[in-house]
Amino acid sequence: NMTVSELEDRVKAIKNKLGSKLFIPCHHYQKDEVVQFADATGDSLKLAQLAEVNREAEHIVFCGVHFMAETADILTTKNQKVYLPDMRAGCSMADMADMFQTERAWDKLGKLFGKTILPLTYVNSTAAIKSFVGQHGGATVTSSNAEKMLKWAFNQQQRILFLPDQHLGRNTAFHLGVGLDEMAVWNPINDELEFDGPVEKVKVILWKGHCSVHENFTVENVADIRRNYPTMKIIVHPECKREVVELSDMAGSTNYIIEAIGRAEAGSAWAIGTEMNLVKRIINEHPDKHIMSLNPHMCPCLTMNRIDLPHLTWCLELIDQGILHNIIEVNEKEAKFAKLALERMLAHV
Ligand code: 13P
Ligand code: SF4
Repeated sequence: NMTVSELEDRVKAIKNKLGSKLFIPCHHYQKDEVVQFADATGDSLKLAQLAEVNREAEHIVFCGVHFMAETADILTTKNQKVYLPDMRAGCSMADMADMFQTERAWDKLGKLFGKTILPLTYVNSTAAIKSFVGQHGGATVTSSNAEKMLKWAFNQQQRILFLPDQHLGRNTAFHLGVGLDEMAVWNPINDELEFDGPVEKVKVILWKGHCSVHENFTVENVADIRRNYPTMKIIVHPECKREVVELSDMAGSTNYIIEAIGRAEAGSAWAIGTEMNLVKRIINEHPDKHIMSLNPHMCPCLTMNRIDLPHLTWCLELIDQGILHNIIEVNEKEAKFAKLALERMLAHV
């Protein structure tokens, strides 16, 4: 039972001892108690790019969620180990598309549309799904390059299957000019295509998954801000529902949000629709601006929050003692095609 400052001292000591053999990447949604020890912070894209170039670190202690650690493992070499300080740090959205559902969907969609579909998957998906997508000619996307990747996909095929976040898929396709009446929804629970009208019209098939954090930002939240703070700008993550993005002033990835607020004038007012730890950090970093969460109850990502200072310390202690634990290792067969899907994306950003 160590105190907070004892835990912090242990982390500092182990970081000093291991030097560049240890690398701690942190997603922006991590807690401050963890972020203070980050060697790099970033959104999903930046963290994947860093993994692709880092060949120095033997131990990569990933402060984020399971799919991000898998991506880091796929993009690093065999002798670099990736650790997740709490194995329960998953992602409910990634869990909304499993391989059995995806194979059934692909079969059924093939019967409906023939070979006219290219799959794209949000990086918020399991390595198995990334591998499936890579094997079928497709690529991964993140929230900061989804538009680019959707254009890339439309250059090769007339239809796209977008996994597993319907909202990022819908918002991005809409922005590119695809009509809402040209988007169908694939329901993986009953293996049914939800679409009103002749199926030949379908251009994008959206997997019926969502982020349980960003779904909590509602049109009522937007209406409350417009009523109570008429000059406030609303900025949201594209994992929010279409209606919410439509009514907001700006939408973009985690990095986009951070940069937009960074550029904003002193005295400006902002309501942000994204994860709580990031919103809190942005509020603290900009005392000259009036910033709040779009949803007044704040929206934490419970699985991101599982990585805390005690788990980080414990993980580093075991590494220091040479004990292998909490290793994230994607099997070679899956990693091969998942890497292909990731590389197709990384080559375009
Ligand atoms: P980005 O890091 O791409 O903004 O995605 C947000 C997210 O939900 C990560 O899990
Ligand atoms: Fe998954 Fe949403 Fe949490 Fe990101 S914020 S890890 S998408 S549940």
